[in-house]
Amino acid sequence: MGFLSNVPSDERIDGLDVGHDQYVSTTVYGSALAACEMPRFEMAEEEMPARIAARFVHDELLMDGNPSLNLASFVTTYMEDEAERLMLENLSKNFIDVEEYPALGEIESRCVNMIARLFHAPLDSAQSEALGVSTIGSSEAIILSVLAAKRRWQNMRKAAGKPYDKPNLVMNAAVQVCWEKAARYLEVEERFWYCTEDRYVIDPKEAVDLVDENTIMVCAILGSTYTGEYEDVKALNDLLQEKNEKEGMDVYIHVDAASGGFVAPFVNPQLVWDFRVPLVCSINVSGHKYGLAYAGVGWAVWRSKAFLPDEILFTVNYLGSPQVSFTLNFSKSAVQVIGQYYQLLRLGKSGYRAIMTNLTKTADFLADMVAGFDGGNKFVLMSKKGGEGLPLVAWRLKNKEHYDEFAIARQLRSRGWIVPAYTMAPHAEKLKLLRVVVREDFSRHRCETFIRDLTAAVKSLDEMPKEVADHLAQAHLHRSHSAANNSHKHPYHDKHSLAGKHGKTHGVC
Ligand SMILES: Cc1ncc(COP(=O)(O)O)c(C=O)c1O
Repeated sequence: MGFLSNVPSDERIDGLDVGHDQYVSTTVYGSALAACEMPRFEMAEEEMPARIAARFVHDELLMDGNPSLNLASFVTTYMEDEAERLMLENLSKNFIDVEEYPALGEIESRCVNMIARLFHAPLDSAQSEALGVSTIGSSEAIILSVLAAKRRWQNMRKAAGKPYDKPNLVMNAAVQVCWEKAARYLEVEERFWYCTEDRYVIDPKEAVDLVDENTIMVCAILGSTYTGEYEDVKALNDLLQEKNEKEGMDVYIHVDAASGGFVAPFVNPQLVWDFRVPLVCSINVSGHKYGLAYAGVGWAVWRSKAFLPDEILFTVNYLGSPQVSFTLNFSKSAVQVIGQYYQLLRLGKSGYRAIMTNLTKTADFLADMVAGFDGGNKFVLMSKKGGEGLPLVAWRLKNKEHYDEFAIARQLRSRGWIVPAYTMAPHAEKLKLLRVVVREDFSRHRCETFIRDLTAAVKSLDEMPKEVADHLAQAHLHRSHSAANNSHKHPYHDKHSLAGKHGKTHGVC
């Protein structure tokens, strides 16, 4: 009976003949379990009461930052109560089980149809079904799109009796890491266009110069993870069209609209970047970024069936009718797609427009404050304003100071704000920058609080003696190294990646 003292009163077995001293620990923190080491490597032999386990996990997670103050991430941190309730009600459903849950399949199709039409997919009629899938995020959508492009290219090469063993992919080296994964996992050569110290978006002419008969597609980013700037899809299209015609090639463009796909159509509708551009064959978008759903949903859409070769599709029988399946994993949660459908239904185009317009205004306000800091002498703005890029603000120090952008990020962290400092993409890595992503819950009011804290952070660094600033930077470096060693994570252990070769830092997303 010795274990009874671990058990809170409401979990005790009544009627047992045990002494009073065995009943003393009736609270979570009075229980013997609270004084035990938490299992880290081996599962404990004994159960623990639900209330205690839940409290311990809860407490552990309190060590994380506050998602609402996490200005590093593009991923949604606010949804309405109604959406959360719907998601909770459906937590036990497996999305892939379309036979048992046909409504889920229908909801996914509706989302694909609405998103494809938002991107001007060329469909025969208002009732035509668009071609696309829900994914876990943009990464899965991009890996699927690269796979489809590679297989289509191989089929064309085989049919023409040409070699098909050296596929390549042309893209900006500032791509999100999922593009490197796609290329490596699917054995496609990476052909990078490199940023310079004053250009961070792909140069269409230089990119098209990298294209040859082995290019499976060109990637254009609608909203660079680094600075939010949009790449010029139309200019890329025009030059590529010319080259295709001249050299008898058939190279298409994939638009990585992970963040911009739900922003540009509402804030900058005149920008032509989607299926209106003739060579755009596929587009990905993260539902969990500006699609305003919680983490775990992305979308891939294709122009037409011509870009999805049959041999990568699997037909599953669903209620007697065959359904095409094109995903990397099988089982997954259904609730993110439900959350996405709720948002599309709830907000409609005017709702998205209102939110994205407000975010753009807030980003512009923050950009003006940053640019005007210290009479305009402190910072250089690296992001675009007025809806010409994503609603984010990226900036760097104008002059050499006795502290850097990383020190500002650390000062802000001590006030609760999570703002990433990172170095620019390869070949421009000497530049360091800070980035604030303006998400739905970063209101004008919260932005003003942030500016107050940024001002205080910079003031305290300006007043800090150089020796103290150096010491804090060193101490931070030491802490991060020992944290990496303790968790057996070796930064840049991989030699094959842009991080391994160039020390590329990926902005959090
Ligand atoms: C341009 C771009 N592409 C792809 C991704 C990967 O998206 P996800 O996190 O949805 O897999 C990101 C993430 O921020 C991104 O910014």
